[in-house]
Amino acid sequence: MEITNNRMQPLLSSLSSSSKILKNFWYGIEHSVAISTKPKTIKFMGHDLVLYRGTEGQIIALDGRCVHRGSELAAGWVEGNCIHCPYHGWRYESDGVCSHIPANQPDVSIPKRARLQSYPVQEKYGLVWLFWGDLPVEECPPIPPLKEFDESGWRSVHGDFAWDGHYTRVLANTIDMAHAPFVHATAFGNKQEPMVQAYKLEQGEWSASGFITFETKPAYSLKFILGNDPPAGVFRATFYMPNVSRVDLQFGKFQFVLFLVHLPVNETKTITKWLHIRNFVTTPLADSFMRRDVVKTFVQDNNAVKIQAGAAPQDLTAEIHAPSDALELAYRKFYNQAVQMGWS
Ligand code: FES
Ligand SMILES: [Fe+2]
Repeated sequence: MEITNNRMQPLLSSLSSSSKILKNFWYGIEHSVAISTKPKTIKFMGHDLVLYRGTEGQIIALDGRCVHRGSELAAGWVEGNCIHCPYHGWRYESDGVCSHIPANQPDVSIPKRARLQSYPVQEKYGLVWLFWGDLPVEECPPIPPLKEFDESGWRSVHGDFAWDGHYTRVLANTIDMAHAPFVHATAFGNKQEPMVQAYKLEQGEWSASGFITFETKPAYSLKFILGNDPPAGVFRATFYMPNVSRVDLQFGKFQFVLFLVHLPVNETKTITKWLHIRNFVTTPLADSFMRRDVVKTFVQDNNAVKIQAGAAPQDLTAEIHAPSDALELAYRKFYNQAVQMGWS
């Protein structure tokens, strides 16, 4: 495992129980192409992080606010592997240690506490993954698999989608088996066929999936690809704790994968960094159609998510569940398991 940050020790006190996100997981937080030597702020459930590339192209991830007076470091500048605060020019090394305070006389030492938290980072599948935790990374769940990304015969496009809801609700929506007939009634959902097949849960260590077959009512680009006599569809939904979901749709030999990393921005905002990977019409000319299909679908889904109440409750009895909710219930159980392990 290649980790582009030199800090492998447990994190410091900035990870408190008030962080409202599970710890000891890798979080997909941005597309690799969006990070350059120009620093960028990433909002991560109320925390500001700053990400930029160093001299070897490696990504450096630090707390995004200057410890001097709280300025946004992404408004500053990068030199080599260091970032400088725009307000009084304090310089931070890639491990977060402040190494220069320009206003100081030469004999004044820099306070030991003048340092930012730094975070281990990896790049995989064209995404940036940040480790948020206080255990050694080797003891924690790995980044989820996505074998299609590197296989020949698949073409991938990516994008962002901003939701008006908590990431647990967004993730739940993307693995929800019962909403399509209603939320997507004008597209691929069929209101006349709302019943969901009984499905079996397949559980991994920090993941689960379920699949159903259904009669196809192709919409958008799939209408042109599948024609008038479409094969039955197979829908598989999978989640990986704590913020990744994956949707597989298969119509005969046509398959596509939606790999979705749900970045928790705050309690009411989530940005999904999505990949759409297809094994048909792999010409780049079709990319814009695929992008449009994803966004149209998410717009409909967001209409459902934004009218939900808050985050998914931790108390499993706080809402009533139907058999079709088995997959989301498995997510909530894993979430509670992590909390019980002290990973919150
Ligand atoms: S606020 Fe950053 S150097 Fe003063
Ligand atoms: Fe949906």
